Amino acid sequence: MADLSVKIAGVELKNPVMTASGTFGSGMEYSDFVDLSRLGAVVTKGVANVPWPGNPTPRVAEIRSGMMNAIGLQNPGIDVFCKRDIPFLQNYDTRIIVNVCGRTTEDYCEVAERLAEEPVDMLEINISCPNVKCGGISFGQDPKAVEQITAEIKKHAKQPVIMKLSPNVTDITEIARAAEAGGADALSMINTLTGMKIDINRRTFAIANKTGGVSGPAVHPIAVRMVYQTAQAVKIPIIGMGGVASAEDALELILAGASAVAVGTANFHDPMVTLKVIDGIKEYMERFHVGTVKELIGAVH
Ligand SMILES: Cc1cc2nc3c(=O)[nH]c(=O)nc-3n(C[C@H](O)[C@H](O)[C@H](O)COP(=O)(O)O)c2cc1C
Repeated sequence: MADLSVKIAGVELKNPVMTASGTFGSGMEYSDFVDLSRLGAVVTKGVANVPWPGNPTPRVAEIRSGMMNAIGLQNPGIDVFCKRDIPFLQNYDTRIIVNVCGRTTEDYCEVAERLAEEPVDMLEINISCPNVKCGGISFGQDPKAVEQITAEIKKHAKQPVIMKLSPNVTDITEIARAAEAGGADALSMINTLTGMKIDINRRTFAIANKTGGVSGPAVHPIAVRMVYQTAQAVKIPIIGMGGVASAEDALELILAGASAVAVGTANFHDPMVTLKVIDGIKEYMERFHVGTVKELIGAVH
């Protein structure tokens, strides 16, 4: 029997497949299609200390091999989230990872504190959203700011802290080392890459925000490269994401150094894709007589 379990920052996941923040809600919309108890973890949409309205529409567009979005982290705020989403997720035998967004360091810390007594397994801190004016990526592109905000959040968080990194930087390893130095328990990467699409018929931007974050198969090779580089640079575990739509894509990230993977954009065209990725990893392990998925993590040098 192939052992798919992995451990991240002391938290055991039954398999290395989770959902990518913002592409799966808190699983409510998907629970008719996917038994959430089969997932390694559900990673929720970003939640802030207060409700955020998000950006003006249109805020999503299709591109060749993926999509662009500038949702702007619309969310109902931590009060509604704690009342509505956490009790829902507790009905399932899966790990709960809450993605946290904020405009200031205090915003992030407030959410971390609110979640300290909740039945949540890990926090994923989004310092990498390209679609909000303050907070988000403005933290994630400066190594000093990354170290400081990580250290500050660590003071308030009870659960292990995963820092989610932006690919919109010159050297991802510098940012990854800064997060590690600040005390991050794990890293996740990559968030979306800033892009632009022009609607030639309307002669305007396809997205009201002008720019949007590119995700889906188009970004997968970039994610593999960044996970590989980061795995050589830090000791903490990495959760890899970016264009995963099949077990093969997930295995590439794992072999490059990811301890687990998240599936994002692919959920929109195949709500059951996460289960196919899990089954595909298991089949691969059986075919190649791999006893535990841990043998595959970072196996390619
Ligand atoms: C519509 C949409 C909303 C997203 N919302 C968030 C979010 O709230 N927080 C976050 O950290 N990442 C967010 N992301 C980024 C994804 O979690 C993921 O890092 C990225 O899309 C790359 O993975 P993919 O190519 O599999 O989608 C969002 C992505 C999409 C497409």
